[in-house]
Amino acid sequence: MILVTGAAGKTGQAVICALAAKGEPVRALVHHSEQTRSVMDLGAREAAVGDMRLRAAIEQVTQDVRAIYHICPNMSPDEVTIGQALITAAQTTGVERFVYHSVLHPQTEAMPHHWLKLRVEERLFESGLAYTILQPAAYMQNALAHWDQIVEQGVYPVPYVVETRLAMVDLEDVAAAATIVLTESGHAGATYELAGPDVLSQTEIAAILAELLRRPVRAQAVPLAVWECGARASGMGDYQVETLVRMFRYYEKHGFAGNAQVLGWLLGRPPTTFSAFVRRISQRRIGA
Ligand SMILES: NC(=O)c1ccc[n+]([C@@H]2O[C@H](COP(=O)([O-])OP(=O)(O)OC[C@H]3O[C@@H](n4cnc5c(N)ncnc54)[C@H](OP(=O)(O)O)[C@@H]3O)[C@@H](O)[C@H]2O)c1
Repeated sequence: MILVTGAAGKTGQAVICALAAKGEPVRALVHHSEQTRSVMDLGAREAAVGDMRLRAAIEQVTQDVRAIYHICPNMSPDEVTIGQALITAAQTTGVERFVYHSVLHPQTEAMPHHWLKLRVEERLFESGLAYTILQPAAYMQNALAHWDQIVEQGVYPVPYVVETRLAMVDLEDVAAAATIVLTESGHAGATYELAGPDVLSQTEIAAILAELLRRPVRAQAVPLAVWECGARASGMGDYQVETLVRMFRYYEKHGFAGNAQVLGWLLGRPPTTFSAFVRRISQRRIGA
């Protein structure tokens, strides 16, 4: 049995699908009981409801698992406490493999959620566990949050200047990599950066969307104050808003580059390009 935490989120769902497609038994840890149905529908064999911040919940859900794939909730101020609780439980139960879903460049102190992930990585180094660390770039799937605006208005809104260049990765490639390190030998003690082949400006992303959707699409910089207003109105908490604002400022100043070689080696094929990703999504969404 493989425990997947953060299972009902964007990442968790992709990892469950990839593991289930290989016939691997998954126990999915979800936050709320309403989420159990969806993870079972994706192919999880068991679903458990619990709060990752509570040690009792972690101790219970880690019983009788061969491996743990730990996905911390996005932008969590409790990343280190939660990570340590999972590591301690893994040491107690003696799991064969602990895979931590980190992030590309956790060394970046200016981005608090990256920096906290580095602290968890450090604890893994000291844990004595057979760990593997995956460090994905920003997901191509993040662009889908604006899909309706792209398709209906021809606008791709971003909270930084449109010249900002970012490495992105297809979450389906990340889930395939997760399945490989969870089910094949030879990955203990490894840290893998997972980025796709393109480091694109927002203008280049809009041009690819325009070409494949066969309609004009332009990238539009949304002022941070406007983005922040919308985020707060949608109910996002202070810590999450402030952390994202710091990330957007960092992206604008330095970009966020990565390299696809490691992911290509791991998958045994070239990682998905942004063009191929958009083609796949548009076929699924509008049958284009
Ligand atoms: N998005 C990216 O581009 C990207 C790239 C690289 C790495 N990552 C990392 O990937 C991780 C997951 O990101 P994501 O976008 O998949 O997150 P997500 O969609 O927000 O999923 C997080 C899941 O965790 C659940 N959750 C929240 N608090 C919890 C708690 N206390 N106990 C148990 N479950 C809880 C959430 O449930 P509720 O929503 O019901 O609370 C949600 O189902 C993050 O650590 C992020 O830093 C993301």
